[in-house]
Amino acid sequence: MVLPHEKYLKEVLIDEHTLQNRIAELGAEISRDYADVDNLVLICILKGGVMFLTDIMRHITVPHEIDFMAAASYGRGARSTSGTVRIEMDIRTQIEDRHLLIVEDIIDSGYTLSFVMETLQARRPASLKLCTLLDKAARREVDVSPDYVGFSIDNKFVFGYGLDLDEKYRNLPFIGVVDLDALNDE
Ligand code: IMP
Ligand code: MG
Repeated sequence: MVLPHEKYLKEVLIDEHTLQNRIAELGAEISRDYADVDNLVLICILKGGVMFLTDIMRHITVPHEIDFMAAASYGRGARSTSGTVRIEMDIRTQIEDRHLLIVEDIIDSGYTLSFVMETLQARRPASLKLCTLLDKAARREVDVSPDYVGFSIDNKFVFGYGLDLDEKYRNLPFIGVVDLDALNDE
């Protein structure tokens, strides 16, 4: 049987096992770095960061809270981003004097994260760091440098493991490269 996502899948870029191993490593690293922190808050950027959050938090041994923020960037269509970013859903946690770690799926141009970080920084947290599963560093248009990176990837449009293809297939347990020909044929 051919599964619905398979016609859009050019190749599996990062398989489930490789993802989970790296996420466990990142969680251990974060646990070491924040060992003495007692007011850590993980801030997940919706929707793409949700799979990554729920997996990595299982490996973070430091007590922490979680909260969610949704940001959207507009301008050049669903598969590209622009400099116009808007917070669609804000966190509810008071973050002044607290240690914040943003958990994001992917950094591309950097516009989304640079806006989110400015917004959070203005609320005067004790610290603010960024953990991204994927980093497309070659695509960066504004200066955003993540503190923790799962995988650096080339400039390919990817989906699965939280990342969507037209809002679907976030459930896939691996990261796949989108077959743009299959998509354009529709
Ligand atoms: P930025 O503002 O250009 O850094 O865009 C970041 C956002 O664009 C991410 O949070 C994703 O939602 C989305 N994005 C960027 N590249 C991809 C991709 O390859 N697949 C799916 N979503 C992507
Ligand atoms: Mg996102």
